[in-house]
Amino acid sequence: MIRILFLIPESDRLVDGNYLRFTNELLNNDCEVFLCLVDSLALSRSQITASGWNVTAPINDGDPVPSLTIFTLDEFDIVWLFSLGQRNSFLDKFQMLYTVGKNVRFINSLDSIMHLKSKYFIASMPEIIRHPETHAGCDPEKLLTIIEESPRTWVVKPPAGSLGRDVFLLKPGNPNNRSILRYLCGQNQDQYTLLQEYIDEIENGETRVLFANGRIVGQYKRHAVNDHRTNLLQGAKSQPCSLTTEEVDYCMEIGTLLQTKGANFVGMDMAYPWVIEFNVINPGGLLTINQLTGVDLAPGIIKQLGMT
Ligand SMILES: Nc1ncnc2c1ncn2[C@@H]1O[C@H](COP(=O)(O)OP(=O)(O)O)[C@@H](O)[C@H]1O
Ligand SMILES: [Mg+2]
Repeated sequence: MIRILFLIPESDRLVDGNYLRFTNELLNNDCEVFLCLVDSLALSRSQITASGWNVTAPINDGDPVPSLTIFTLDEFDIVWLFSLGQRNSFLDKFQMLYTVGKNVRFINSLDSIMHLKSKYFIASMPEIIRHPETHAGCDPEKLLTIIEESPRTWVVKPPAGSLGRDVFLLKPGNPNNRSILRYLCGQNQDQYTLLQEYIDEIENGETRVLFANGRIVGQYKRHAVNDHRTNLLQGAKSQPCSLTTEEVDYCMEIGTLLQTKGANFVGMDMAYPWVIEFNVINPGGLLTINQLTGVDLAPGIIKQLGMT
């Protein structure tokens, strides 16, 4: 029987989403599933351990977290990270995970998480990943010069942010530009800030495409409502959508690239022909697509990933 470990965030209660739905699906397929807290990762007598529990019956939104036991990661066939936990211990957790035995398969490889988690990655392969002109640095004055010397509109954001937090729209001549850049770069100018050309295509919405094992498994579209951001948490509206032939062709090319990186469950945000970002930690979409269309993607994804 395949033993699967999901690393999840600390919480008093279980929350509906990827880990909950995939757990129930895997239980239906006679897999052994364990949920452990990502922030409990530790090194014990040269073995990486985590605290959690063996799930023996279907789980539901709001279920309390039961009492925890310690497991050794080398005992599992598959490990799937659904959270990076506390930010300040990221490097320690990652370096510990890198020492886990080679027989353990990570659904998204540690290398792919390391690179795709940040928004720098989209700048790495311009021949495949079409992306807006992008700059990054910690010096607000340098970034300001780029904005003020251009006639264009720009977006500034943290390179590893999420949920649309601290994503600002800046136009040359706006008196707030300097203070926004100073805020993002931090008082000690030690926080990197990404500066990106604003792309008009976003006004037709942003498409979330879900990939499993390099294949497109679902998509939906988000339209901004309250401001320039198409994040659901910032009030954007979602709707079902299909992909055009060009979009499908492009996504298949991206899917092949993702597979070569060992990124097997990914959400890509696209305002065709531009890629906005990749999500490799707990990409949303399963619930939204279920609500919008009634389709449950979980069985197909688990199958596509070769877990059943
Ligand atoms: N270069 C850009 N041009 C137009 N809109 C953008 C650009 N970058 C970000 N946005 C808008 O801001 C939102 C949040 O930015 P994103 O890079 O996806 O960060 P997050 O990880 O916080 O979601 C996007 O969904 C999009 O609506
Ligand atoms: Mg986003």
